[in-house]
Amino acid sequence: MRKPIIAGNWKMNKTMAETKAMIAELAPMVEGAECDVVLCVPYTDIATAKKAARGTAIKIGAENVHWAEKGAFTGEVSAQMLKELKVDYVIIGHSERRQYFGETDQTVNMRTQAALAAKLKPIVCVGETEQERESGKTEEVLYRQLTEGLKGFKSKDFDKIVVAYEPVWAIGTGKTATANDANETIAYIRSVLNKKFRGVGEKVRIQYGGSMNTKNCKELMAMPEIDGGLIGGASLKAQDFSQIVNYNK
Ligand code: PGA
Repeated sequence: MRKPIIAGNWKMNKTMAETKAMIAELAPMVEGAECDVVLCVPYTDIATAKKAARGTAIKIGAENVHWAEKGAFTGEVSAQMLKELKVDYVIIGHSERRQYFGETDQTVNMRTQAALAAKLKPIVCVGETEQERESGKTEEVLYRQLTEGLKGFKSKDFDKIVVAYEPVWAIGTGKTATANDANETIAYIRSVLNKKFRGVGEKVRIQYGGSMNTKNCKELMAMPEIDGGLIGGASLKAQDFSQIVNYNK
């Protein structure tokens, strides 16, 4: 049985004061949640978030990590730095990183290696653009992102690695993949991983992300292949996010 995982991706939102207030409000609402509950927050909010989440069901993640141990990489943050902050998860290869900051399958691969070496749990994002979907290239794109991005990993690494399927056209647009489409595409992702990495199909957790909200979360989470959600906009309000976390209540 795969334990569902609902993770918020705050992106570039919330100051430290806002972080503290939101977690204080959220914590009692998600107590006793049956899924893993994660908030991935800006670097500047991590220490505040860790402190506010102490003793609650909420785990804290970062939104990116550099692959090098240290060095001349102005503006970057290493896995060891995150480890010292006791970060649990880290998002890698989000489509906004791919689109605006030159992220490639190769850098996704290096970042994921660095995260695992520091015992962080990577949430590796994959997904096709609207144009790729319309030209029938969804599977080709996902195959490339998965096999290049996760090249060289071992089956046991997938005890830690979570994959997030986020169709780019559904992110922040209010357009969601239908539950059936998302389920079907995630089944494809699972089959690719299972072929490349023995026995991984059964155990790897695969989330859906892209305009997941309080209205559609039940239907999406009811799908057999969907093990959770990566939530952007709807993770910024305690009320909304807690409703998604409690999708089964
Ligand atoms: P959204 O973002 O829920 O606002 O569409 C999801 C994501 O980018 O992870």
